Amino acid sequence: MNGKGGTGKTTISSLIMAHLVTEHKGAILAIDADPNSCLADALGIRDPQTIVGICDDISKNMNKIPAGMTKERFIEMRVQEALTEAKGFDLLVMGRPEGPGCYCYVNNLLRGVIGSLTKNYDFIVIDNAAGMEHISRRTVGTVNKLLLVSDFSVPGIRSTKKIYELAKELGIKIGCAYLLINKSTGPIYPLGEEIKATGLKLIGDVPNNEKLAMWSIENRPIFEFEDKEINNRMEKICEILMKG
Ligand SMILES: Nc1ncnc2c1ncn2[C@@H]1O[C@H](COP(=O)(O)OP(=O)(O)O)[C@@H](O)[C@H]1O
Ligand SMILES: [Mg+2]
Repeated sequence: MNGKGGTGKTTISSLIMAHLVTEHKGAILAIDADPNSCLADALGIRDPQTIVGICDDISKNMNKIPAGMTKERFIEMRVQEALTEAKGFDLLVMGRPEGPGCYCYVNNLLRGVIGSLTKNYDFIVIDNAAGMEHISRRTVGTVNKLLLVSDFSVPGIRSTKKIYELAKELGIKIGCAYLLINKSTGPIYPLGEEIKATGLKLIGDVPNNEKLAMWSIENRPIFEFEDKEINNRMEKICEILMKG
C-alpha cells in the first residue's frame, strides 16, 4: 500500500485484512511500516511492541547476551518478539525511530526481518509511509501487488503516478500495480485522462462513507467495520487482487 498521506492507506489496509481473515485460509501478516501510522489501532491492537523499541532495548543490553549465543541470533530472537499474534493474523509494527539519521537503521532491520518472515506467510499486507524511498529494492525486492491509493482529486492521482515512477526507477520488481480511488463523492469518469496517464490499472473506487469517517473519529477499529456498500466494493477489489 502506498500513496499520499491521508488518502486512506491504513483504512484500506485494514479493510483488506478483514477480508483476508474472513475469506481466505492461510497465514496472514500485517506490517505497519509507516512511522506515522496507526495500523495497529485500526486492527484493534493496543500498544504493540515495535521493532524500533526492541532494537533500542537490545542496544542498551548488549552485555546481557546469553553465553554461547551469537549477537545475530540474539537480535533475531528478540525481533521475533515484536510479532503480535492476533485472532486470525500476525502484526509487525516497525515504529518510529528517535533522532536524526535513524531511517537507515530501521530500513536495514526491515529488510532483514521481512526477508526471513515472508517465508512463513501466505498473505502479507504492508501499510507503507508515503513515497517509495524507504522501500528500496534491497528492502522489499518483490512486490506482488502494489496498490496506490489516491483521494478523489487530480493532485492525488498525479502523486500516485510519481510514486509509481519512483518505484520503477528504484528497480523494485512489481507483479501488478493498481490505482485505487478512495473517498469518491461522484462518478470517476471525469478523471479518466489523469487515471490513464498514471500507467496504473484502475482497480476501482471506494466511496466516501460517513459511517466509516465516524468510525475513525470514535477510534473504533476499522477492522471491525461493517457496511454493505463498503463491503461490496472491497470484495470486488480483493477479488481482482487475488486473481492476477
Ligand atoms: N472511504 C472513506 N470514507 C470516509 N472516510 C474515509 C474513507 N477512507 C478513509 N477515510 C478517513 O480518512 C482519514 C485518513 O485515512 P487513513 O487511512 O488514516 O489515511 P492514510 O493511512 O493514507 O494516511 C481517516 O480519518 C479515515 O477515517
Ligand atoms: Mg496511515
